[in-house]
Amino acid sequence: MASLRTLVSATALSLATLAQCRPLTEAAAAAADCNCYKASSDSTAHFVNRKFFDFRNIANPSTPAPIVGSGADGAAGATHPYFSTAEWTNTWRTQSWSTPGEGVPRQNSLNNVFIAPAAAQDGDEQGSSHLTLRTLRQSDYQSTAEVESATADYQFLTMRMLARSRGASGAVTALFTYTANPNVQEADIEFRTQTALDQVQYTNQPGTVNGEEQPEATRVVTLPSGPWTEWQEHRYDWTPGSSDWYVDGKKVASIQFQTPTAPLSVIMNVWSDGGVWSGVMGAGGEAEMQVQWLDLTYNSTSQQAPGACSNVCVIDSLI
Ligand SMILES: *[C@@H]1O[C@H](CO)[C@@H](O)[C@H](O)[C@H]1NC(C)=O
Repeated sequence: MASLRTLVSATALSLATLAQCRPLTEAAAAAADCNCYKASSDSTAHFVNRKFFDFRNIANPSTPAPIVGSGADGAAGATHPYFSTAEWTNTWRTQSWSTPGEGVPRQNSLNNVFIAPAAAQDGDEQGSSHLTLRTLRQSDYQSTAEVESATADYQFLTMRMLARSRGASGAVTALFTYTANPNVQEADIEFRTQTALDQVQYTNQPGTVNGEEQPEATRVVTLPSGPWTEWQEHRYDWTPGSSDWYVDGKKVASIQFQTPTAPLSVIMNVWSDGGVWSGVMGAGGEAEMQVQWLDLTYNSTSQQAPGACSNVCVIDSLI
């Protein structure tokens, strides 16, 4: 799906743009010296930094056995050498915090963030591995996964991932921006395993203020391209005054109400806490978000742009 769309948009590019944005791989993009990016050929927002995380062909993928007991789970180490590479540690921090939850205590564990082997029978998958974030219901707690950006200096971005979520009812899988400083500003892509599998929720948080629902803050969308249990390219664009969401290149939601303005973190997580929003996962249940790649293209309050945009590349044609 994504590659078909990429082909179509690449064909639509002008020759001049093609000459500028010829590269089709990350290495080639670096060689082309792009110093500025936009999401697609018809985008108007520009961003000066880009990181592409490719989880598709990482050696020695493996799925770690669950750890039983919240203490040991919270103390677990990284599951794969990839999580010690500069590519990962320069940008991400895998979390091990816990919270009492809304009925079921939630314990984040490094053991739930791993490089999994691609399913052999899955012809849709492009490589031999992917990143997985997992949640498991243990008898007296929920073992969960969260990866946060090392810095909270993202201010406007376009980010996208080729991902799918699957598993037992009672989990939320998500990619979002966040700060609580001084108040919550946050924009979410959330998949809930207790809803219809083609329903996704997009929100400029807070969705509730003093117990009052903020209907303008959120959109519940039935995906045009089918269930999110299949590989789809999920994209979020944050520009001044607007949050816009896309699936497989098609715009599916746009919210201007309380669009974040502050510098934010980027977070992905897979969790449940026994509350109404996540639902309650049955003992022994498990759910995952699997990610083949993640593209993070952004402006930053701490890495100022050295010069003006002189060589604009289009993300659609780089992936
Ligand atoms: C990102 O930064 C560049 C360089 O300062 C600027 O030209 C561009 O407008 C910024 N993008 C957004 C969405 O604000």
